Amino acid sequence: MSQPLKIALAGLGTVGGGVAKLLLSRKEELSARAGRALELVAVGARDRTKPRAVDLSSLTWFGDAVALASCDADVVIELIGGEEGPARRLVEAALRAGRHVVTANKALLAHHGLELAQIAERQNVSLRFEAAVAGGIPIVKALRESLIAYGINAVRGILNGTCNYILTQMEASGKSFAEVLREAQSLGYAEADPSLDIGGGDTAHKLALLSALAFGVAPRLGQIHTEGIAHITPDDIRFAREFGFRIKLLGMARQTANGLDQRVQPAMVRAGTPLADVEGPFNAILADAGEAGPFFFEGRGAGEAPTASAVIADLVDIARGTHGAPFGRPAADLKSGAGEAPDRVSAYYLRFEVLDLPGVLAEIAGRLAEAEVSIESMIQRGRSPGEPVAIVMITHECAQSRVTDALKVIATSDKVLGSPCMIPMEAA
Ligand SMILES: NC(=O)c1ccc[n+]([C@@H]2O[C@H](COP(=O)([O-])OP(=O)(O)OC[C@H]3O[C@@H](n4cnc5c(N)ncnc54)[C@H](OP(=O)(O)O)[C@@H]3O)[C@@H](O)[C@H]2O)c1
Repeated sequence: MSQPLKIALAGLGTVGGGVAKLLLSRKEELSARAGRALELVAVGARDRTKPRAVDLSSLTWFGDAVALASCDADVVIELIGGEEGPARRLVEAALRAGRHVVTANKALLAHHGLELAQIAERQNVSLRFEAAVAGGIPIVKALRESLIAYGINAVRGILNGTCNYILTQMEASGKSFAEVLREAQSLGYAEADPSLDIGGGDTAHKLALLSALAFGVAPRLGQIHTEGIAHITPDDIRFAREFGFRIKLLGMARQTANGLDQRVQPAMVRAGTPLADVEGPFNAILADAGEAGPFFFEGRGAGEAPTASAVIADLVDIARGTHGAPFGRPAADLKSGAGEAPDRVSAYYLRFEVLDLPGVLAEIAGRLAEAEVSIESMIQRGRSPGEPVAIVMITHECAQSRVTDALKVIATSDKVLGSPCMIPMEAA
């Protein structure tokens, strides 16, 4: 066997603790698979006195994460988290010091991926991040290496387990978003501050990385239209089921005639198709690889074991000497892209909360017709004159901007309560 691969690990929380456990308890097996010894030589976290799942007392300890970059290691694993602060400083310092870096930090890469990739290339070292997208699912490697022959037409994924858990529970229980969120927090499926998850930001971080790998664009969050799930009601979920759909928060990137369309938004996914059947905290990605066909990946997108498993996969690649550009092509070739997402053409589900008064339906239909949005089907449940009721419509395919323009006008009507809800219908 050749020289051992010396590893420094920063962050000993959920993921870092799992990685440390694997490197110590499965050292022989993993080293055999890597072709050389995987040797954990140094670790760091905030609090040295905190009990850890494995005995780390024989390893060099670093209380200052950034100092780990200068220890005698071939690879630095960053599992601290956060787009700035010690995580960013450590990764930059480690790359500049000529060390390979493995990270699970999607926020860091979504914000600074291009410049970090440039440093890695200049230093001729690896920057690997399999665990940053969809936990244990090997989608980064698949898009970077395995599915390149015919190019990628589209990538769509359920990339946030918290949102998928909430939507699945809302459907199963009929409870409101707020109730299910509270339950998810008490079960540990949602953070105390869930805004990054439920607002779509976490999915956007991951989509930025998938787009870079699949389409050769530099990660740019500003180019991703991002919506969350907090406005979804039990009514939307019931109506979706009546129309034969389920609501999923999707991260979607696809090549269109008008450029790359990148968006994170709740979508109506036809029941019985692979993405619609993804339940609870699971993640899934559907990659359309042109003539090679569609490929569907599903698995656990978070948690100690799946995420640590992805970190180890990156380490083994580095140990074997498998290098290459972080996003699968030279950083100089990554396109910057321009402006906002192109106008999307789709059919839309629309829900209006209205006062049940004569003429309200005609008013809404009239406004939509003025914007050249035509209606394929409509449901109005119950009659309670003068009281609030829901009206739901499915449009024919049309440009999103036409629908949003019409909704802005409709929302000003004194018969319409609150903001109308608009959800695109996914074809498959
Ligand atoms: N958890 C998941 O399922 C999951 C899935 C995919 C990706 N990720 C990503 O993996 C990374 C780690 O997530 P996690 O869930 O393992 O986080 P975590 O449980 O909160 O652990 C964070 C670790 O970083 C250490 N740390 C915090 N600030 C530090 C500082 N200033 N200097 C040194 N160490 C510091 C903490 O030290 P102490 O232990 O001493 O407090 C802790 O060990 C994040 O980028 C996250 O987005 C996580």
